[in-house]
Amino acid sequence: MTKGVWVLLAMAMLVVAGNVAMLWYVLQSGFSATEQPVKLEVLFARQLRHLAMPEAQKQMRNPVPATDEVLAEARVHFADHCANCHGNDGSGATLIGQNFYPRTPDLTKIETQSFSDGELFYIIHNGVRFTGMPAWGKGRPEPDLDSWKLVHFIRHLPNITSEELEEMEQYNPVSQVAREEQERIDRFLQGEELDPQSPAHHH
Ligand code: HEC
Repeated sequence: MTKGVWVLLAMAMLVVAGNVAMLWYVLQSGFSATEQPVKLEVLFARQLRHLAMPEAQKQMRNPVPATDEVLAEARVHFADHCANCHGNDGSGATLIGQNFYPRTPDLTKIETQSFSDGELFYIIHNGVRFTGMPAWGKGRPEPDLDSWKLVHFIRHLPNITSEELEEMEQYNPVSQVAREEQERIDRFLQGEELDPQSPAHHH
């Protein structure tokens, strides 16, 4: 046989071995989300993501200037849409974020910050398949400037101030029940009688 055939054969065997190993791994570990992904799996998934990103996308420059207004807008947007999973500070230390498989990463760390602007945009716009990260670009008018603004905000996250975090709390989604309870408490603090049955005030 020629050398080329041997190389092909060796490659085919590697693919088969790889598939067997993958199958064994899935059968061993099951589909539960409670385990932490092993380091190799994380490394592999991340490298795959870099590879799968179209080159032109990686090179894309942020078309939006990083002004104070843009950052303020993105901050509110992040608090409203992303903080459920990522936390206002981007740490991912939220109840939901820490129970995903894979876990919601700390966006302030080098693993995230080393993505190019174009890659971050791509992730926000398209989401990450097989994870809890949704796609946000669908239905937005092109170019998706909101996602580009969020890219600026993610770059700013490692330097976020306590004032900014405090402001963001006002924009975190709150359930109707929690909002009504808070209104009841506010009225009580303003001197109204507290009726345990109904938030409405009777005379
Ligand atoms: C429902 C939960 C959820 C929401 C809401 C969410 N994310 Fe994510 N996000 C995730 C998870 C889980 C990952 C990790 C995906 C992975 O491991 O590849 C992730 C990953 C990312 C990443 C890539 C980080 C990295 O290093 O891999 C970016 C950037 C990101 N999210 C930005 C956002 C922005 C901006 C928003 C709001 C518009 C948002 N996310 C909303 C769950 C969420």
